[in-house]
Amino acid sequence: MSTPKTWLIVGASRGIGLEFVRQIIGHGHRVIATVRNPNSDIDALAKTAPDRVRVLTCDVSREESINGFIEQFVQSGERKIDYAVINAGILKYPNVRHKSLPLTFERFATHLHTNTIGPIIVAQKLLQLANVTIGTIAFMSSDSGSTTRFLAFEDGFAAYSASKAALNQALRHMAEELKRKQSQTAILALHPGEVSTDMSKIDIAWEISGGQITAEESVSAMIDVIQSKSIEHTGTFWTWKNEVCIFLPR
Ligand SMILES: NC(=O)c1ccc[n+]([C@@H]2O[C@H](COP(=O)([O-])OP(=O)(O)OC[C@H]3O[C@@H](n4cnc5c(N)ncnc54)[C@H](OP(=O)(O)O)[C@@H]3O)[C@@H](O)[C@H]2O)c1
Repeated sequence: MSTPKTWLIVGASRGIGLEFVRQIIGHGHRVIATVRNPNSDIDALAKTAPDRVRVLTCDVSREESINGFIEQFVQSGERKIDYAVINAGILKYPNVRHKSLPLTFERFATHLHTNTIGPIIVAQKLLQLANVTIGTIAFMSSDSGSTTRFLAFEDGFAAYSASKAALNQALRHMAEELKRKQSQTAILALHPGEVSTDMSKIDIAWEISGGQITAEESVSAMIDVIQSKSIEHTGTFWTWKNEVCIFLPR
């Protein structure tokens, strides 16, 4: 086993986030996992390695909850995060096959708050903490937010896709600004693949090319992808297969 590292997983109650926690513990590393609400799955995992798992609370869509999480983090005395994965996300639109729900102001805003603004603010507040070193921050994006691989057939995904595209642009700015400050924190975007989780239990009108993969497969591959990157990769976007996604035509 490699030297134990500390991972932070934001949005660890189920799906891809919970699987990150499971595998990281299995590799002998430490995890700070955040959930919105008390959760028996994460508690059960924490009991398997009580000295290596810390569970904190964070709802990324609410500023006061993010502030509360930062306060909990400071109180915990943690000084180093080797890898942070900002995984929390929602897909509330689409819905019924061939019949997208109306894209309301509120529904669009909810996607932006959860998938774009919250993740960026969480990262920003962690980066502002004095005496805390962060190696890599990986944001869970999606190929739905890629502008070069625009998925025109994804009816009903406009809010989700726009929120992930906005996340990509915001994290690129974060990477460039950090570079100019000579920061050693690498900022990455990831596409986890088409993963069988609660999020993918939706009634879509198109075939998923290549089918779905399990959270176990996706996370196992993404752990390798994240660990293979360093500061020279900051501001780049990678799939779970370690293929580079180009954000915009150059
Ligand atoms: N599954 C896929 O095929 C796929 C493809 C591309 C990208 N992704 C991205 O991968 C990430 C994880 O997705 P998943 O498939 O694991 O989805 P999931 O099973 O629906 O899990 C979503 C996770 O995000 C958390 N979350 C949602 N809203 C939150 C909020 N306001 N504050 C904090 N946590 C919140 C959920 O917590 P609660 O239990 O509290 O709701 C849950 O832990 C998302 O960012 C998603 O966009 C997934």
